Amino acid sequence: MPAIVIVGAQWGDEGKGKVTDYLAREADTVVRYQGGNNAGHTIVVGGSTYRFHLIPSGMLHRDKTCVLGNGVVIDPEELLAELDALAAQKVDTSRLIVSSQAHYILPTHQVLDRQAEARKGAAKIGTTGRGIGPAYQDKVNRCGIRLSDPAHPERLRQKLAAHLEEHRADLAGCDWTLDRLLAHLTAAHGRLRPYIGDASMVVNDVLDRGGRVLFEGAQGTLLDIDHGTYPFVTSSSPTAGGACLGAGIGPTRIDRVVGVAKAYATRVGSGPFPTELATDPVGAKLRERGKEFGTTTGRPRRCGWLDLVALRYAVRVNGITQLAITKLDVLDEFESLQVATAYKVNGTLTREFPTAIEDLEVAEPVYETLPGWRASCSAAKTWSDLPAEATAYVARLEDYLRVPVALLSIGAERSATFSRLALWEPL
Ligand code: IMP
Repeated sequence: MPAIVIVGAQWGDEGKGKVTDYLAREADTVVRYQGGNNAGHTIVVGGSTYRFHLIPSGMLHRDKTCVLGNGVVIDPEELLAELDALAAQKVDTSRLIVSSQAHYILPTHQVLDRQAEARKGAAKIGTTGRGIGPAYQDKVNRCGIRLSDPAHPERLRQKLAAHLEEHRADLAGCDWTLDRLLAHLTAAHGRLRPYIGDASMVVNDVLDRGGRVLFEGAQGTLLDIDHGTYPFVTSSSPTAGGACLGAGIGPTRIDRVVGVAKAYATRVGSGPFPTELATDPVGAKLRERGKEFGTTTGRPRRCGWLDLVALRYAVRVNGITQLAITKLDVLDEFESLQVATAYKVNGTLTREFPTAIEDLEVAEPVYETLPGWRASCSAAKTWSDLPAEATAYVARLEDYLRVPVALLSIGAERSATFSRLALWEPL
């Protein structure tokens, strides 16, 4: 089974980094295919904590090649800071390859991000402020700066001048002059040059040789620019199809799509969230038990019950073949649990996730109540060690979604993930 795509099946923060880290043990190459340093995950190994925003967490495995594909947007300072932090923790980073076709996030993109949010006022998206949207906007508008550009200094100067001209009105008063931008990129590029290459060629070569490649999506399905809760979405394609575009592989290369979902639901930033428990104490309990604060911005995450309607939609738009369920232990102390199995939208009952934001905003979840287990999952080493109600909870999910749960995670440590199916093997 040479290629597995890992996708977030909710609104991001599902624990994809942990699942990637687990599956990376048996992979040759780990590839990130979209997003930028709006993402973030923390991996705990043997008591040491590693924080990632851009670099695939596969870097922690000594023998893996890690790739940032063409679909990623790169803040050079952030990438260098992450490389330095990993080097300080004695992690060898020489196995990183960054696509020459990826785009740079410029400091001016961050200025534009903040301005766009301020202009929207109460209707703001609640972005991470990292300049993600404006960088992708320039890419699509065909005036972005690619990682290959600084190798041609005169052309780079022209492109940066065009960028400043394009955004002249919005950047008036900002102190990023052409010379300063040029110096900023040139200095960063000098250090990043050894990592820059033809990432698509590297990935396809590994696949041609029968190697195993793990494609790691950032954010989640419901933040996808096309399939998410538009306009409250990110500006890239976290769904499985994004792996082809953002890594330069064909769809025929993908063998398996693993959807990662928390055992409950969270969302950061604005936008509809039907099962949110904004004022209910259960929401606060989930936040506290699940330590639901953003890795990138520190913002408290909105919390709610598991939404099977949304998950079923994620199964459809990604072609999810297996699920990984994370943070089951967060549900340890509840008498009973609720899962949304349908919505009522303007009086009509539906099991389909509405594609129009106006319908989603008024969707009322219809809940099924399941027994809690009021016991600790954390000591479990295998599926059969779990409390019976916990296995019943997971079985209900499988039954509703018609997708098997292959991985289960019950704690922060690497050892707290166990597998029910060997995902790299033919099933
Ligand atoms: P942007 O990606 O910074 O433009 O933010 C757009 C939306 O996506 C906001 O609601 C963010 O909170 C959300 N978002 C972006 N990255 C992540 C992530 O890694 N986890 C969860 N939410 C995210």
